[in-house]
Amino acid sequence: MADQLFEAGVEFPCGGESACGGCKVRVLEGEVPATVAMRQALSEEEIRDGWRLACCAGWAPGAERVVVEVEQWSLDVLTDEARVPIEPRAGRGAAIDLGTTTLVVQVVDLGTGEVLGVETGINPQARYGADVMSRLQYELRHAGELGRSIRETLGRMLGGEPLREVLVAGNTVMHHLFCGLDVEPLTHTPFLSPTPGGYRFADWELGWPGPAEFLPCLGGFVGSDLLCGIVATRLDEQARPRALFDIGTNGEVVVGSAQGIVCASTAAGPAFEGGRIRAGMRAGAGAIDGVHVRDGSLDCHVIGGGAARGICGSGLVDAAAGGIELGWIGANGRLTNAEKRLPLADGVALAQSDIRELQLAKGALAAGLRMLAGGGVEKLNLAGAFGNYIRQASARAIGLLPEDLPIEPVGNSALRGARMLLLAPSTRSARLRRIRALARHVELAADPDFQYVYAERMALARYSLSG
Ligand code: FES
Repeated sequence: MADQLFEAGVEFPCGGESACGGCKVRVLEGEVPATVAMRQALSEEEIRDGWRLACCAGWAPGAERVVVEVEQWSLDVLTDEARVPIEPRAGRGAAIDLGTTTLVVQVVDLGTGEVLGVETGINPQARYGADVMSRLQYELRHAGELGRSIRETLGRMLGGEPLREVLVAGNTVMHHLFCGLDVEPLTHTPFLSPTPGGYRFADWELGWPGPAEFLPCLGGFVGSDLLCGIVATRLDEQARPRALFDIGTNGEVVVGSAQGIVCASTAAGPAFEGGRIRAGMRAGAGAIDGVHVRDGSLDCHVIGGGAARGICGSGLVDAAAGGIELGWIGANGRLTNAEKRLPLADGVALAQSDIRELQLAKGALAAGLRMLAGGGVEKLNLAGAFGNYIRQASARAIGLLPEDLPIEPVGNSALRGARMLLLAPSTRSARLRRIRALARHVELAADPDFQYVYAERMALARYSLSG
């Protein structure tokens, strides 16, 4: 049953080790036996209410039908169809955004630039852990398995029509797994791989309808998803420095201009995706995705309009901002009431530990930005789904984003940049070479100032990059 639940979209944050409790699903009809692992991870009340761990769920003897609620795992996958410059040529091609969680495949007419089809899906590797570190650990034990599964899945998503070429963008771990490279150097400090370059594959090697190229990484965990973000935002052509910020489990920061680029990644943890938050969930039906202060209390918006079942990343940022405004959360993150809870809706509240998780996540990201962009930038582009949905006023109020910068969401810039490179064949290699020569990867943890800035940025308070 675990495999069927994964295919239905349930994620296994700890890779199905029964260790995190993050794959909770509710049985609505029929019986799923509560195992020892489930009894350890869930409260008695939860077990009574039908909650089970999806990763170790099995059929009861003789059971014929079980109905399980999985709606909270539905994912809104961000695609991109913005018009981009084109150098027309015959045939079709494809751009792929290979994300840690989601996949987007876009087939494009190379003569007109028109997007002919888009396929989205869940990365099948998510069965073995939500974050890149758990994927690396799995790869060390089962070499090659994750690469095979992602190549097969993407091959199916591409369909059968011949393609002139396919460009793939993804972070460094996705790059190494896809290309079948040794991931061992990525599992320990200084997290630098000797094989960050682009790799080309013939169609027969992959069993795909055309040859493919996995675009090169920039360094450390900063992969071609950010390189494509640079292409999409033209950061490498700017006279004055700009910043590009991708908020996720691994937050990446790129700062630079035509004169030079620095980039870094920070392990922010999964709070912005609802992970390690007691009532956390994806931005699906039943999630609180927005919180506003009204008449001295917190008013929640729930996706789908029904009863709240949990809270997603944008709701979490809003709730913390609202709590600060009402004086219910201090700048040090302490809940000020005696119960140490921030009630949001029937059955949904934030606990002190949830606020701590948020502080850790936002502190890491804000510290990364502070370290790289401290010299001043004129604009901050936010990449990715979270950057698209987050309320900027709330992100500023909790000190995730700085007060003194214009901020512009750029959507799925990895996909757009890959499509831009696909449609510019004659200048592609030179552009990639130039960006890689301009970019310098910085290992933040190795900087003696980082821990200090990180601790400072954990405060739930407004800040200025120039201050
Ligand atoms: S308990 Fe972690 S994935 Fe199931």
